Amino acid sequence: MRNDMEEILISEEEIQEKVQELAAQLSEEYKDRFPLVIGVLKGALPFMADLVKRMDIHVELDFMDVSSYGNSTVSSGEVKIVKDLNTSMEGRDVLIVEDIIDSGLTLNYLVELFKHRKANSIKIVTLLDKPTGRKVDLKPDTAGFIVPDAFVVGYGLDFAERYRNLPFIGVLKPEIYQNQ
Ligand code: XMP
Ligand code: MG
Repeated sequence: MRNDMEEILISEEEIQEKVQELAAQLSEEYKDRFPLVIGVLKGALPFMADLVKRMDIHVELDFMDVSSYGNSTVSSGEVKIVKDLNTSMEGRDVLIVEDIIDSGLTLNYLVELFKHRKANSIKIVTLLDKPTGRKVDLKPDTAGFIVPDAFVVGYGLDFAERYRNLPFIGVLKPEIYQNQ
């Protein structure tokens, strides 16, 4: 898999150091609040696993799987819920965990949905933020790294469902996606 990379953008060590930093910050922020931590499948899985292992507080974990309705550039940003939560969120302090925010449409939809479901508070932590891709005004409360406008893979992020299990974030060689 490593040979398929044009460039390693963020090394495993840099990721782990950042995750430790974010976990300490979030543990302080959510001290005594038993947050409902919601991972957005599948990309958030490695980040969420590492993050919550380093959070020194009680957390409840749940997952959502969503997909864009057809063309994700549609400005309504409506998404389809593939898997919903098993937990009621009324009155809960919700922390959404994402791998990357690009257009912001997915999270914008989820935040509106969770407001409607009467969460007490809603915050977003994302490992990567690609602000140049934004189509709606959405800012993460906590972000690990800003990435340039390139398609990145690894640590949860895929190309055709591959590379999610890489421990670092990289950019693929053009011949890899041109051959598909
Ligand atoms: P939004 O709604 O913010 O959606 O556009 C973010 C989702 O889009 C995917 N995405 C990427 N996946 N490399 C990937 O592997 C990328 O560079 C990339 N940019 C966006 C990802 O699923 C994310 O959750
Ligand atoms: Mg995703």
